Amino acid sequence: MKEIKKIALLSGGGDCPGLNAVIRTITKTAIEKFGWEVIGYVFGYRGLYTNNYIDLTLDKVEDIYKEGGTILYSSNKDNLFDYLVDDGKGGKVKKDVSDVGVENLKKDGVDCLVVLGGDGTLTSARDFSRKGVNVIGVPKTMDNDLSCTDVTYGFMSAMSVGTEFIDRLQTTAKSHHRVILCELMGRDAGWITLYAGLAGNAAICLIPEIPFTLENIVKCVKERDAKGLPYTVIAVSEGAKYADGTKVIGKIVEDSPDPIRLGGIAKQLEGQLEKLIPNHEVRSVNPGHIIRGGDIGAYDRILSIRYGVSACELINEGKFGNVVTINGDKMGYTSLEEVIGAAKFGRQKHVDPNGELVRDAKAIGVCFGDE
Ligand code: F6P
Repeated sequence: MKEIKKIALLSGGGDCPGLNAVIRTITKTAIEKFGWEVIGYVFGYRGLYTNNYIDLTLDKVEDIYKEGGTILYSSNKDNLFDYLVDDGKGGKVKKDVSDVGVENLKKDGVDCLVVLGGDGTLTSARDFSRKGVNVIGVPKTMDNDLSCTDVTYGFMSAMSVGTEFIDRLQTTAKSHHRVILCELMGRDAGWITLYAGLAGNAAICLIPEIPFTLENIVKCVKERDAKGLPYTVIAVSEGAKYADGTKVIGKIVEDSPDPIRLGGIAKQLEGQLEKLIPNHEVRSVNPGHIIRGGDIGAYDRILSIRYGVSACELINEGKFGNVVTINGDKMGYTSLEEVIGAAKFGRQKHVDPNGELVRDAKAIGVCFGDE
C-alpha cells in the first residue's frame, strides 16, 4: 500500500451537530498520531470540483469540539456525477464531472478522501470509490436512518433539543388546557419524534412508521380529559402519514438530487383537530431547523471522537471503500456498496412498529394514533 501522507475531508448534505467534532478528531488524530497532512474541501463536493480547500491545522480545530454546523460548510445539491454546468448557450445542463474531482485529488496529493455525510453524500463517495479513489465514509445524519450503524452523530443532539421543545410545550399546554402539536424533522424515519416524544412525555407520538387516524387522536385527547389531564402535547414527525398513506410536502427544491422537503403536517393537523375537539384550543409549532443547529450534545461529542479515530485507523490499515460504524459498543466498518445498496433499496433504518420501544411506549399509555 502506498504510504499515506495527506488526507482530505469534506462534509455534504444537511448539516448537523457533530460534524465539527468529527473534523476536529480526524484532524488531530491524523496530525498528532499518524503525521499526515489534512485539508478540507469547502462546500462539499462543490469544493472538490472547484478545488477550493483549506488547510486543516491543529489551531483551526482545537475549539470546535462543541460547535454545531461545519467549518467546511456543506451543500446538498452538488453531486459531481450529475452536476449542473453551463451548456454554452446561456442555459444549464447536467453532466458527469467526477473526473475533475479525481484529477483535483491527484493534483492536491490526497491519498484518501474522508466523506462526512448521509446516504446522498455517501452515494457519491461510493461512486468515487468505484473510480479507484481511496474513500472512507463517516455516517452523519440527525435522522438516524442509516441501517449500517446503531447511531449516527447529530441524532442525539437534535433529539435533545426536540425534547426541550416538548418539555416547554407541556407547561403552557397545561396552563391553558390546550392541545399543542410539535413537528419534528427526520424525513421518513420517526427516531427523533419517538425519542423526543417519549423523553418529553408527549401523550401522542405520530411517526411515519405507524400511520394514524384523526379519530384515534381525538379518542386519546378525550380519554385524557376523562382522566383529569385536559391538555395534550403531540409530537409529530414531519413525515408522519395518515392511514391512507398521505403525508405533507413542504416544498420542492428543484435543483436538489432529493427534491422533496417534508413539512407542514402539524399546522394541517391543527386545523383539522380544532374542528373535532371544540372544547380545546389547538396550536402547533414547527421548530424546523432549530433542532439541527446549536451546540453539539455531550453524547455526540464522544461519538464523534470514536467515529473520527476509527476513520483514521481504517485509513492507516488501508481499508478503503468503507463506512465507519458503531454496533453496540463496538466500532467497526461496512462497505460503501452495502450501505448505499441498503439505502437505495429502501432499507433505511426505521422504527419497528412492533419493536420493544413502541411496545414500551404503548405500555405507559402513549398513543400512536393507530388505535
Ligand atoms: O436529513 C436531515 C434533514 O434535516 C431532514 O430531517 C429534513 O427533512 C431535511 O434535512 C431538511 O432539508 P433542508 O435543510 O434542505 O430543508
